[in-house]
This record gives sequence, structure tokens and C-alpha cells, in this order.
Amino acid sequence: MRLILLGGPGAGKGTQSAFIAEKYKIPKISTGDMLRAAIRARTEIGHQAKVLMDKGELVPDEMIIGLVKDRVTHPDCEKGFLLDGFPRTIGQAEALIQGGIRIDAVIEIGVNDDEIVTRISGRRVHPESGRTYHIEYNKPEKDGLDDLTGEPLIQRDDDKEETIRHRLGVYHKQTEPLIKYYKNLSEKHGDAAPKFVSVKGMGKVEEIRDLIFDVLNDLISDPSFKKNYH
Ligand code: AP5
Repeated sequence: MRLILLGGPGAGKGTQSAFIAEKYKIPKISTGDMLRAAIRARTEIGHQAKVLMDKGELVPDEMIIGLVKDRVTHPDCEKGFLLDGFPRTIGQAEALIQGGIRIDAVIEIGVNDDEIVTRISGRRVHPESGRTYHIEYNKPEKDGLDDLTGEPLIQRDDDKEETIRHRLGVYHKQTEPLIKYYKNLSEKHGDAAPKFVSVKGMGKVEEIRDLIFDVLNDLISDPSFKKNYH
């Protein structure tokens, strides 16, 4: 199963991709997490990315495309993968096609801008794993600590309100057009294109998880999917 999770900043992509990865035993590939790991490792890419990420800008396509193309060739991706936060531009989507990287489904999580600001301002993360919590809606077992490691949670540098508003603007301009792009692709090429599904992202974390699981169960039981994979 090769999936893309699409949605605005704070729509819940990271939260939901953790459930999907666990249930379907596929790796979650978050380009945001990859870039933050590069920043922690003090690499050249990390250095260049940090300046842009702190401003809420996207990193250039040529910086991220190579990382993703390489990552999906790792052995753990043989049975599938889940892309979280990639593609984010039409150029990145085209690079997947040009690289022969087939995608089965694109799931868009739709959340309105005001809810996004509320969600991101209360977000806390475990930097090493990317595990995500919310101070009100998705609390860790112990305040300020990661459930699995007990290590401290932090607030991301790009989670300040003015940066969030800028990230939303960038999303509407550069990433939202991908919704139309994948809808068109699916209408034009049928089973040969990724299936595009929108999921309403307003509601409790578990309700949205179950909606996405329903979509994925439908996909798996679709005869054209079975024909390709079994
Ligand atoms: P990235 O890390 O991908 O950030 P993002 O897309 O802005 O998404 P977020 O991680 O902010 O949110 P999310 O949708 O995962 O939501 P989450 O589950 O955490 O990218 C960061 C930066 O890296 C970009 O700005 C860019 O600079 C760069 N970058 C990354 N990929 C790139 C690419 N492909 N090209 C170019 N640049 C790239 O949830 C948010 C909060 O809400 C959490 O606190 C969570 O607990 C809570 N929550 C989740 N679901 C619910 C719910 N249903 N109800 C209430 N609260 C909820």
C-alpha cells in the first residue's frame, strides 16, 4: 500500500499517519521529520532548511525530492509506505511520476484555518520520534513527557501563531492545488492513477482515524487493487 496524506499544516497528518503505519505495518515517511532530523544532525541540508522552516516557507523542491526518492528505495518500503507532507507542490508530485514511484491512494484531511491555529498552538512533540500530542485534545499520559520514552516534549520553533498563519498562506498557494491535480489525474486515468479521497478532518482524533481506516479497507477490498498486489 503506497499512500499520500495531504492536508494543511496541523490538519492531523502526523497524528493519523502514526495509526495507519501501525495498523498496516508500513513506514511513515514524514518530510518534516526528515528535515528536523537533518537540523539536529547539523548537516548542510539541515542548516539551509532551518532558515526556511522557521519562516514557514517550503524548502526548494530539488532539496526534498532527492531525499524522498532515496528513502522509498529502502527495504522497509518494499510492502508500501505512507508519505506525510510530500508532495507539497505540483513539481514534487510530478517528480514521483517521473521517478516511476506508483501511488495507490491520496487521502486529503480537510480542516478549517481557525481550527488549525488552535491545534498547532497547543501541539507538543517528541523531537526524536516525531510523536505528537496536544495539551488539550490529545494529552500525553504525563504532562510534558513522551508516553513511550518519558523524555520531555517540546514546542516546535515554527509553531508560533504568526508563523502558523504564514504556513497556512503557503499551503493555500502552493499545496492546495494538489487536490485538484490528483482529482483530475484520477478522473483522467481511472485505475492507473492514485485514488483520491477527501476525509473531513473536523472531529475527534479517533473518529478521523476510523474514517481513514474505512477508506483504506475499501481500497484493499477493491478488485483492481487486489489484482495489482496479490
Ligand atoms: P511538517 O512537519 O510536514 O509540517 P506541516 O505540514 O505544517 O504539518 P504539521 O506537522 O504542522 O501538522 P500535521 O498535519 O502533521 O498535524 P499533527 O498531526 O501534528 O513540515 C514543516 C516544514 O518543513 C514546512 O513548513 C516546510 O518548511 C518543510 N517541509 C516539509 N515537507 C516539505 C516538502 N515536501 N516540501 C517543502 N518543504 C517541506 O496535529 C497538529 C496538532 O493537532 C497536534 O497537537 C495534534 O495532537 C492535534 N490534533 C490532531 N488531530 C486532532 C483532532 N482531530 N482534534 C484535535 N486536535 C488534533
